[in-house]
Amino acid sequence: MTEYDIAVIAGDGIGPEVTREALKVLGVAGDVFGFHVRGTEFPFGTDHWLATKELFPDPAFEEVRGMHAVLLGAIGDPRAPVGLVEHGVIMRMRVGLDLYVNLRPVKLYDARLCPLKDKRPEDVDLVIVRENTEDAYTAKPEFLNKGGPDEVSSQPMRYTRKGTERIIRYAFELARKRNKHRKLLLIDKTNALPAQDLWTRVFAEVAREYADVKTEHAYIDAACMWMVKNPEWFDVAVTTNLFGDIITDLGAMVQGGMGIAASGNIHPGRVSLFEPIHGSAPKYAGKNVACPVAAIMAVSMMCEYLGQRPAAVAIEKAVIDLLVSRRLKGVGTGDHPTNEVGDLVAAELKKVPARV
Ligand SMILES: NC(=O)c1ccc[n+]([C@@H]2O[C@H](COP(=O)([O-])OP(=O)(O)OC[C@H]3O[C@@H](n4cnc5c(N)ncnc54)[C@H](O)[C@@H]3O)[C@@H](O)[C@H]2O)c1
Repeated sequence: MTEYDIAVIAGDGIGPEVTREALKVLGVAGDVFGFHVRGTEFPFGTDHWLATKELFPDPAFEEVRGMHAVLLGAIGDPRAPVGLVEHGVIMRMRVGLDLYVNLRPVKLYDARLCPLKDKRPEDVDLVIVRENTEDAYTAKPEFLNKGGPDEVSSQPMRYTRKGTERIIRYAFELARKRNKHRKLLLIDKTNALPAQDLWTRVFAEVAREYADVKTEHAYIDAACMWMVKNPEWFDVAVTTNLFGDIITDLGAMVQGGMGIAASGNIHPGRVSLFEPIHGSAPKYAGKNVACPVAAIMAVSMMCEYLGQRPAAVAIEKAVIDLLVSRRLKGVGTGDHPTNEVGDLVAAELKKVPARV
């Protein structure tokens, strides 16, 4: 039987509750499809930091590096300085493990979840590929005359040719493999930010190797407008770290909200991280009201990444069937007790004829 070692970082707030449900589903998927997942839990997050002042010690980081994948719940808690633990745990892995692809499927499972008028599941089925290791996010912030009337702060948007090329190439491959409209959209803001001309040039160069993939271009402001007006126009889109961060939250709302949207932080062929895109929602922590569907979709993405595509598809289908039949009332806070949702999805999966 194929075995996988995964690191589990449940983290803060609602993280542990949604992670528990995701692991429940992953375990059942393994039983049904004939693979075994060995989860190793790591305690990193705000409680651990408060108790030890440790964020992500090197020996643990190296242990994670040797695993197949990471499942992350959420990090962030008002008891710690803003961004400290998020940076020490999430950014440490994104940058330290060189997880250069942030993969964000935006798929509407049931028309009633979409806030846009008259949009159906066939209208909302796209993937955003966000560069995950460069841009202002990994540049050093600078403050001159801090606190004074002439204060200046800066944090440059920095792109390398290698970093730009590898993410664009990944996106072309995905558009080809997905084989929907075989269309790749470049989203940038070169008209106002000429530094992004590097993206324009690299996109054109790589496109020459993918004659079967149609190319399109949109500025980020227009792309946000199209996402709301005509989401059906999108197939695969590739963009910078900052713009991707913003447009993927817009995508999350179009597909039904924070309770359903999941992402992969990927370095092809290496340990990669899967997570719900929501944060730790501290006000709902411990109340058994958070929706774990996003975390469950994160394990679906993990299964796909690990080569267990039938399991990935079955998890997604179970969620769709539950939503469409209204056995899952919704993906908002309190629509169901958190633990009930994992049980519902697990029960659906058990109906799939066993493969072993
Ligand atoms: N990847 C991560 O771990 C991650 C991502 C974003 C934010 N954060 C951190 O999380 C903390 C809280 O951030 P925030 O309040 O801006 O965003 P958040 O995503 O935690 O919560 C915003 C709102 O979204 C809704 N929501 C989120 N998750 C939900 C779920 N599973 N089910 C139902 N509703 C859900 C809730 O109404 C919640 O109040 C901060 O410390 C922030 O830094 C972490």
